[in-house]
Amino acid sequence: MTAAPASHPVSARVALRGDLLDFTSTPEWGAAESAAVRFRPDHWLLIDHGQIMGTLPGDQSPDITWDHHDHRGRLILPGFIDSHVHSPQLDVIASYGTELLDWLNTYTFPAERRYADPEQALTGAARFLDALLAHGTTSAVVFPTVHKVSVDTLFAAARERGMRLIAGKVLMDRHAPDGLRDDVVQAERDCVDLIARWHGESRLAYAMTVRFAPTSTPAQLAMAGRLCAAYPDLYMQTHLAENRAEVQWVKELFPDARSYLDVYARAGLLNARSVFAHGIWLDAADRAALRDVGAQIAHSPSSNLFLGSGLFDWTAAEDAGVAVSMASDVGGGTSLSMLRTMAAAYTVGQAQHKPLSPWRAWYLATLGGAAALALDDFIGNFKTGKEADFAVFDFKATPELEWRIDHAKSIEEKLFALITLGDERCVSATHILGEKATP
Ligand code: GUN
Ligand code: ZN
Repeated sequence: MTAAPASHPVSARVALRGDLLDFTSTPEWGAAESAAVRFRPDHWLLIDHGQIMGTLPGDQSPDITWDHHDHRGRLILPGFIDSHVHSPQLDVIASYGTELLDWLNTYTFPAERRYADPEQALTGAARFLDALLAHGTTSAVVFPTVHKVSVDTLFAAARERGMRLIAGKVLMDRHAPDGLRDDVVQAERDCVDLIARWHGESRLAYAMTVRFAPTSTPAQLAMAGRLCAAYPDLYMQTHLAENRAEVQWVKELFPDARSYLDVYARAGLLNARSVFAHGIWLDAADRAALRDVGAQIAHSPSSNLFLGSGLFDWTAAEDAGVAVSMASDVGGGTSLSMLRTMAAAYTVGQAQHKPLSPWRAWYLATLGGAAALALDDFIGNFKTGKEADFAVFDFKATPELEWRIDHAKSIEEKLFALITLGDERCVSATHILGEKATP
């Protein structure tokens, strides 16, 4: 993947002044203070043709050849990376009263069926990406729908905005309603065509996208595994062990598999570029298998709470050495805001008496997410040479947050208050490759 997409205008030189905060390594899981945090109050962030060029203390103003943006008093952080989200599901976010399998049939599948319509796919993709940007999210791993047009429109809209995006056509050839099923032969043709057109184009990458084991026949899972082997730098995304009834169903459908994860492993879908959403109902052998290949779990806490799926045991994943990233999982999740997602992750930890530190949470939503996706050479922090995707945060966005921040004694305390009380109202601006991408 290259740094600057041709279709996205990139200004020559941009300088932003504010409080710079990013991560240089992985903070401890539960520690309130961390050497992995780099906090540079009142500094300039310098960007040349979309790349980070360095920083300067606030009193050393760059000359007038730089386009100045003054955000004094605000925090500037790398853009969020949402490792699992569904673009068509903004249409069903906040739907009442069901758990996963009923929720899919009652709300989600009917909404996704509408994305066969190119007009709906086009407007839905634009609305979704603009919403991500408004929430401070600059990169995402996305499920569109089973329809090829939903993938084309999403990738085209991401390229237009210069965003880093990973996505792919959803595979579903059984246990889904009319209008949402494909078949193995046509799906393979569509995937090969989409890979040729979009994988490696500007900042985009293709993911083989198996919805989840119950909606693909063994033949379709095998086809997905074949393509992963044929194109080893593709990503693979799916859902894993989210809900107890789902896990039981997988057991019935695949009686020979040792576990839900083993269904994917046998099909050749378990590798270092696999992104498994949820992973709540796993055992020690599953965690060891995930660790051994370097696959990641996209932790989706607001979704897990909203759909009553269960509490992800993060410390078990941590102890086993499994990579974890942060995901909104909208529309099972209740907000695109990664601040709200972090707050939900903290709540899930607290419910198990294992509080997650604000540093670790924010790290995973930036540099940690980039590392899990093998994108940390490009994005995730303010290292010189990286792509300049970032968001500006305003501690004064709401009266309660401003009041709480006035009473905070340290940057740790402020960050935790921002996570707990903040949302997209706190995002003053989002920049892609240095360019302001929000109104
Ligand atoms: N499992 C299969 N499909 C989905 C989906 O769209 N959302 C969630 N949360 N879980 C799923
Ligand atoms: Zn999902």
